[in-house]
Parts: sequence; C-alpha cells; structure tokens
Amino acid sequence: MPRLVQPTDEAIAQAARLLREGQIVAFTTETVYGLGADTFNVSAIERVYQLKGRPARNPLIAHVLDPAQARQVVAQWNERCQRLAERFWPGPLTIVLPRGALVPPAATAGWSTIAVRAPAHPLARRLLGAFGSSISAPSANRWGFVSPTTARHVAEDFADVDDLVILDGGPCEIGIESTVVDLCGAVARVLRPGAVAIEHLRRVLGKVEAPQITAQAASPGTWARHYAPHTPAELVDGSSLRSRLDALDAPVVVLCFDADVVAAPHCSIVMPGSAKVYAARLYDALRQADAMHLEQIIIETPPQTQGIWPAIHDRLQRATQGNEEQ
Ligand code: TXA
Ligand code: MG
Repeated sequence: MPRLVQPTDEAIAQAARLLREGQIVAFTTETVYGLGADTFNVSAIERVYQLKGRPARNPLIAHVLDPAQARQVVAQWNERCQRLAERFWPGPLTIVLPRGALVPPAATAGWSTIAVRAPAHPLARRLLGAFGSSISAPSANRWGFVSPTTARHVAEDFADVDDLVILDGGPCEIGIESTVVDLCGAVARVLRPGAVAIEHLRRVLGKVEAPQITAQAASPGTWARHYAPHTPAELVDGSSLRSRLDALDAPVVVLCFDADVVAAPHCSIVMPGSAKVYAARLYDALRQADAMHLEQIIIETPPQTQGIWPAIHDRLQRATQGNEEQ
C-alpha cells in the first residue's frame, strides 16, 4: 500500500527531498489530487506515465507557485497571461503556452506547448515552495478512470505501489479538474471547461472560443470517454427518471436529486442542488456507486446550465460516453 502522510513541515520537506531525488509524490490541490514529479527530471516523468498507464502523447500540467516560476517553464509570458494570472491564480485555471527551451520534451509528451497552473491549496503551495521549482502532475488516478478527490481515493487506485507517498491535505474543495485555456493563438480557446467559467475568462480577455472538443489532437485529455467509472453509466433527464427505473429489473444505483423517485430494488445517492457542492461531491459519488458493483449507474441530468454547471455536464458526458448499448 502507498503511504498516507499528514502534511507536517517535516513531511513537506521530506516530500520535496523525494521529488529532488526523482521520486513521485501525490499531493492535494483544490481541484483533484495530483501525481507529482520534477518537471526537469525525465525518468521521474516517465515513471508518472508508467504508474498512471497514460498514453505517451498526453502532456502533463506543470504546477507552479506563481508567474515567476511559470516563466521558468514557458517560452513567453505576455500581457494576456499576466492578466489571467492576476485574476485567477492561485486557482483552478491552467494556461497553455509555448514550452520553454529548458523543459525536457518528455514533460509535455513532446508537444511544443506546456500547460501551467498555480494551485491554490495550501498543501500544494507549501510543497511547491519547499521544492522551489515546477512540479508536473496529472490527476492521481489510473488512466481513464474517475479523478481522486481524497487521499484514500489515490491509495485505492495505486494500492499496488508501495513506494508512493501521498500527502493528505483532506478532501478537495472544488472536486473537478481545472479549466484549461490555450493562449497560443490570437484568440484564447477553452480546451477543458472547469471551475473558472468561460464568462469569467471573457470578462478578462474579451473574446474566448469554446469549441466542443472530442478529438485527441486538440487537447489530449479530452477523449470522449474519460473520467469514467467501470460500471456502465447513463444520463437520464429528471422527467423520465421514474419510467426509466421502472423498466429496469436488475438493481441499479442512481445519482439523483430526490431519493423519493428511486424505489426498490434500486439504490440512490442523493446529490446536492448547488453546483459547487455537486462538483465537490461528484467523483466520490461515482466511486461509491462503482464500488456497489450493480448493473448500471444512472445519473439524473442536472437541469441547470450556468456558471460551473457546463463543466459538470462535460464530466457527466464523458463518464457516460459509449455506454448506451451496454
Ligand atoms: O485540476 C487539474 O488540472 C488537475 C490537478 C492535479 O492540477 N490536473 C489534471 O491533470 O487534471 P490531467 O493530466 O489529468 O489533465 C491535464 C489536461 C490534459 O488532459 C490536457 O487536456 C491538458 O490538460 N493539457 C496538458 N498539457 C497540454 C498542452 N500542452 N496542450 C493542450 N492541452 C494540454
Ligand atoms: Mg486526469
């Protein structure tokens, strides 16, 4: 089993030493847990890919303390990045820029661009401060599976990795991954919706494109089926939930807003109506539903579409892709 460690000053210093030695350290961020490696250490980066089972063409996010550290990994830091960083960093916004000349290509899976983000969680910031340089980290889950929002989730996913240290900063407050915005072109493009809503980006940048991305070429983490539980999952509108459940004989588990709609033999996990609380709860609920090993997970489609609901809808779509026939 991996080692869960409370984030004392000594533990943070030790984790920074491990990173310097080329080891992997899992750590809390405000979005989801990350599986961290020294951005400048190629064999440490390779170990992250191997542990995660991640396709080699899928680049990692470089986590930095602030714009000064970001400048060490990007080739150009212009006025647009500065404005975004001033408004949203530290926080759940990842900015894609041309990769700096000193960064090994392995850290970005050979891409000439690099994604950078300054996380807000105090544990992540203490670790970055102690390490003193950029930490590359994907979400700390096995590839394609639901992201982890607690240290226990990480320990479960990597139960067979004895030398993995997990710094336990408690449950992630936001619970879904950062917004990824590409600033390489003339017009900013959202590659992955997240907790920073597109309307907030538009207030800072003016025009922002938000194409519907499903192809690997545009942003590798945006494969259609991603963030998915092992149990087949299906999205169902609230209005047809009752009739859909009545038609099913084998017990299923339902992520719904009102437990009264769900009768035996089915089980319910009641989800909160507030977007913030829903996002913070989502991945744990999916993992909990998965662990019940029932025929199917049914998810009631949240009716709302504003603020961070689009990011939640994006994750729900990906969690349920390709399951209709199963
Ligand atoms: O909230 C988050 O972003 C979490 C925490 C740990 O920071 N990290 C995370 O990493 O979600 P990961 O590796 O699971 O997803 C990173 C996504 C990729 O799937 C891809 O869409 C995008 O960031 N990305 C990374 N580098 C990129 C690049 N050079 N160009 C375009 N997209 C990139
Ligand atoms: Mg991920």
